Amino acid sequence: MLHILKSYLTFLWKSKNEHGVHSPFVFNLVTKCFYDKTKYDEYKILNNYRNSLLQNHDSIEVTDFGAGSRVFKSNKRPISKIAKTAGISRKRAELLFRITHYLQAENILEIGTSLGLATSALSLGNPKARITTLEGCSNTSEIAKKQFQFANLKSQIEWINSEFSNYLKTINFDTTTFNLIYFDGNHSKSATLEYFELLLPTINNETVWIFDDIHWSRDMEEAWKTNVKHPKVTVTIDTFQWGLVFFRKEQPKEHFSIRV
Ligand SMILES: C[S@@+](CC[C@H](N)C(=O)[O-])C[C@H]1O[C@@H](n2cnc3c(N)ncnc32)[C@H](O)[C@@H]1O
Repeated sequence: MLHILKSYLTFLWKSKNEHGVHSPFVFNLVTKCFYDKTKYDEYKILNNYRNSLLQNHDSIEVTDFGAGSRVFKSNKRPISKIAKTAGISRKRAELLFRITHYLQAENILEIGTSLGLATSALSLGNPKARITTLEGCSNTSEIAKKQFQFANLKSQIEWINSEFSNYLKTINFDTTTFNLIYFDGNHSKSATLEYFELLLPTINNETVWIFDDIHWSRDMEEAWKTNVKHPKVTVTIDTFQWGLVFFRKEQPKEHFSIRV
């Protein structure tokens, strides 16, 4: 926890808003997307999706993966608590919606479905997108699927119930491109670096990768710093909770810390 506090203070010291951002691409992204204050109707749908999970007091047996939970001691967990602790926050779901909408991402991969809170933001951001979402725990994945039907969301979703790297290794890299990948599961350095390398063949010039919890631990921070330096990466944006990675060849290599 002390680590997060220190990282946050450093972030506050270094970060800025749109002022002083000279890259037109990043300036537009910040002003037209990050700071877009429009009250989109889709926010109500996101809110209803969240509230219905928060009101669901049934419990499910969860298979625990990755870096484990800092909150739960037992594997029998109330759905309401999973939604509260593992799911994306309301503010970030709205930001994820805006990013998907702004970039019009067509092929999306989400690594870590949980109950589908972020999946619903991705889906509403571009209802025409094809979304593949990965979840290792079958009981959690089943609830997400039901919740999606209940919310009447229409996107074409492929729900994959698998351990992440087992699935990622089966992708046909000759034919697969993802325009947006949301990395939100298995918050460890080794897994983050492994997924990064495995998924590099799926990028194109417009691709954005969003890494959650980049300052969650020293380990995750090291993984983030390694990714920022990768020769294929050009623009990177640290929003503290998220690290955004772009591969746009026309951009000079540049790092930004932006308050969202
Ligand atoms: C933080 S939650 C995802 C939250 C979701 N994206 C949202 O915003 O609502 C991470 C999920 O990844 C799953 N997970 C973690 N590590 C995994 C692994 N190695 N293989 C498969 N699933 C994993 C967990 O079961 C958990 O449901």
